[in-house]
Amino acid sequence: MVSDTVHYVFLAAAACFVLGLHLMNHPRTARRGNTLSAAAMSVAIAATVWLVADEGTITRTGWLVLTTGGLVGATLGLWAAREVRMTAMPQLVSLFNAVGGGAAALIAVNDLLQAEDAAALSARVSLPGALDIVIGAVTFSGSLVAAGKLQGVVSGAPVVFPGARVLNVLLPGLFVAGTVRLVLAPDSGAALYGLTAVALLFGVTLVLPIGGADMPVVIALLNAFTGSAVAMAGFVLDETALIVAGMLVSASGGILTKLMADAMNRSIAGIVIGGFGTGDSATAAPGAGAPAQVRSLSADDVAIQLAYAGKVVFVPGYGLAAAQAQHELGDLAKLLADHGVDVSYAVHPVAGRMPGHMNVLLAEADVPYTQLKEMDEINPEFPQADVALVIGANDVTNPIARRPGNAISGMPILDVDRAKSVVVIKRSMGHGYAGIDNELYTDPKTGMFFTDAKKGLAELKAAVGEFVS
Ligand code: TAP
Repeated sequence: MVSDTVHYVFLAAAACFVLGLHLMNHPRTARRGNTLSAAAMSVAIAATVWLVADEGTITRTGWLVLTTGGLVGATLGLWAAREVRMTAMPQLVSLFNAVGGGAAALIAVNDLLQAEDAAALSARVSLPGALDIVIGAVTFSGSLVAAGKLQGVVSGAPVVFPGARVLNVLLPGLFVAGTVRLVLAPDSGAALYGLTAVALLFGVTLVLPIGGADMPVVIALLNAFTGSAVAMAGFVLDETALIVAGMLVSASGGILTKLMADAMNRSIAGIVIGGFGTGDSATAAPGAGAPAQVRSLSADDVAIQLAYAGKVVFVPGYGLAAAQAQHELGDLAKLLADHGVDVSYAVHPVAGRMPGHMNVLLAEADVPYTQLKEMDEINPEFPQADVALVIGANDVTNPIARRPGNAISGMPILDVDRAKSVVVIKRSMGHGYAGIDNELYTDPKTGMFFTDAKKGLAELKAAVGEFVS
């Protein structure tokens, strides 16, 4: 009876996950979607505990482990969600992937070790078990390396050691052999431990050669892997809720990876096999760039343009996030809007360093959603914009992407160069993530306001305030 009720609860929770994901489609409803999914997960966990209690199979030690694990996990999760800075979110997500993948792999390891007659387990259990171990362990070690690279604990540069390529061909071969062995002989300790060790090693050798700045795509991919590992754990435990939740994560992570790769004009295979760029503004030579003529502007020069404009489009990028200047930008936009200027924000799908980076920042600054415009919507509007104000965005505005033969050829860009006038706020002529010169900066209608985004926007607000008062 309890078991039936709990399974209905699981089904309802799974439906809420789908609805929650749907609500996350739009910034206006995303918070509600997140709350709904979190509530559904809490109810599913409570139902699981109820089921376990009803079955009466859990020991006192088991209860102690369950309660302590729940408390420690919930405390760490709450702390991380509140304290970790937005720019550190990719490494946090990576750690969550590691935990998810690792937990899923442990479920399969435990199930195979605890089975009363492991040798008699059917392939219906041993195959998903073996796949769970492979995917979960790769995700665990790969995600730890990815988080370490982003946090600067592991070198952000591609780490290639002698024999790495041979190893990356050899290890998948060992997976197949180990998986077949474990499926045929689920009681084989050598196959179980060997497969786990090989998968852990492969996670490391897969991610080490990839540059730190490319990690967000890898993290989205590892997120999809986590979902697949959890779904496999669901098959091992014969648990529908886990299968549904895992497949949802897997599918959405896979779609996200594809969207990110498309928005950067790369193929997923190329990314994984090693077609990664390694440039980042942090690694590019300071002051690098074309010695071509650029026009330098002061805060007052820019403020006059803004105050007399009819339409201004703000173009935020990674530099806005690095400077944490979202509130200053929101204040400036509000001042202009109150003065009657038509303001909007152009959001490129891969501006910043993680999916939705700009949306989250602008939401923090309480920017009205109606002013946020995605690339396809805003591009036709640039020719009518009196001023396009670029704040710490570089690659996503570079017109060179429209020509073949360079690092960002074919990447869809914001048509900033089609605005009547362009102002760029950044600190130097330094490169963006792709490590190439930006032709926008030497366009005669572009003026450069060389400063930190936070400081520059605060100065602009003060100067515009004087003009409009
Ligand atoms: P970028 O091309 O990386 O350029 C950022 C610019 O911000 C730099 O040129 C830098 O110039 C400037 N900057 C840094 N700190 C600043 C500060 N404190 N104040 C003012 N400016 C500052 O950024 P983007 O245009 O947003 O493009 C994102 C890039 O990341 C794309 O190439 C994309 O493919 C890649 N990428 C994105 C993602 C996702 S999911 N968003 C994932 C992986 C890779 P200065 O040093 O001169 O100030």
